[in-house]
Amino acid sequence: PSNPQVEREHAILRQDGCRAKGGAPGFKVAILGAAGGIGQPLAMLMKMNPLVSVLHLYDVVNSPGVTADISHMDTGAVVRGFLGQQQLESALTGMDLVVIPAGVPRKPGMTRDDLFNINAGIVKTLCEGIAKSCPNAIVNLISNPVNSTVPIAAEVFKKAGTYDPKKLLGVTMLDVVRANTFVAEVLGLDPREVNVPVVGGHAGVTILPLLSQVKPPCSFTSEETEYLTKRIQDGGTEVVQAKAGTGSATLSMAYAAVKFADACLRGLRGDAGIVECAFVASQVTELPFFASKVKLGRGGAEEVHQLGPLNEYERVGLEKAKKELEASIQKGISFIRK
Ligand code: NAI
Repeated sequence: PSNPQVEREHAILRQDGCRAKGGAPGFKVAILGAAGGIGQPLAMLMKMNPLVSVLHLYDVVNSPGVTADISHMDTGAVVRGFLGQQQLESALTGMDLVVIPAGVPRKPGMTRDDLFNINAGIVKTLCEGIAKSCPNAIVNLISNPVNSTVPIAAEVFKKAGTYDPKKLLGVTMLDVVRANTFVAEVLGLDPREVNVPVVGGHAGVTILPLLSQVKPPCSFTSEETEYLTKRIQDGGTEVVQAKAGTGSATLSMAYAAVKFADACLRGLRGDAGIVECAFVASQVTELPFFASKVKLGRGGAEEVHQLGPLNEYERVGLEKAKKELEASIQKGISFIRK
């Protein structure tokens, strides 16, 4: 007896490389933590992305329901669900891109670092799976604290002998999305026209918006700079407080994750000029990891851009950011090396 969904998927898998129906390029994407607050809207948005031909939804709970639901959307991607650790390998085999929003979110009063004890172990397990089943995939890591989970992932991949620094990207896109929105509000512009580079890391003072480099070119009073920098750095906490104990940003994060994943996929396809901010292995500062603009291509983060000229306010911010970042990076590295 034939199962139309399985047949359709086999037809796609048989096709050369990652070509989907009609010869359009399509990539295979897995979401780990797909049944969560971020995972669900992220799965929905990925199912709508024409660059995706196969979508694997993995979680330790509830992934069959989310998969059944999403699979009824009449878009091109074939969706398959995977439940529990024994299915991690099948979830990952053959993937071009793995997006990881697995792990616990913040509650009011918590910092992202308070999540370390639980999420470090989750990220370790998932990255061991990636090293085994899809060592060449691009990894978009969302689980917090990103400043520590990216170094953890790097150590896991190094241990497994599969580490390619260009293919491991911590997702800081939500900071950019927030910065674009808040800056547009102050300038009275359409947020789609605004581009704010946000560098450093993804927690508190490590989030460093470079307001002197906003496009289109503009200038801010020192009050505006102070207000915007603080609001961008505390954007996550604004949502955590408004959600009053029920979680952190999920919908705007799913939007940001898809915006970033789509840029990675366009890079993989070979599109030119794809540049986004991400937290990556870096030589831009003396720290081993740092968020800055990166050029996305067939190999992942093919070039890491320098920070460009900073003003005095940003130079002070950079020093603060580096201090905290250094400790968070070290904490991640020690978690695996010990
Ligand atoms: P959530 O609790 O709603 O969902 C997390 C999901 O991960 C759950 O479905 C859970 O079953 C799953 N999970 C737990 N252990 C797992 C494992 N070993 N393997 C696979 N899945 C597992 O949390 P939410 O709101 O979706 O947030 C997820 C993570 O994303 C948190 O760590 C949060 O701090 C982080 N985050 C990161 C942002 C960023 O900008 N990078 C922004 C917002 C949140």
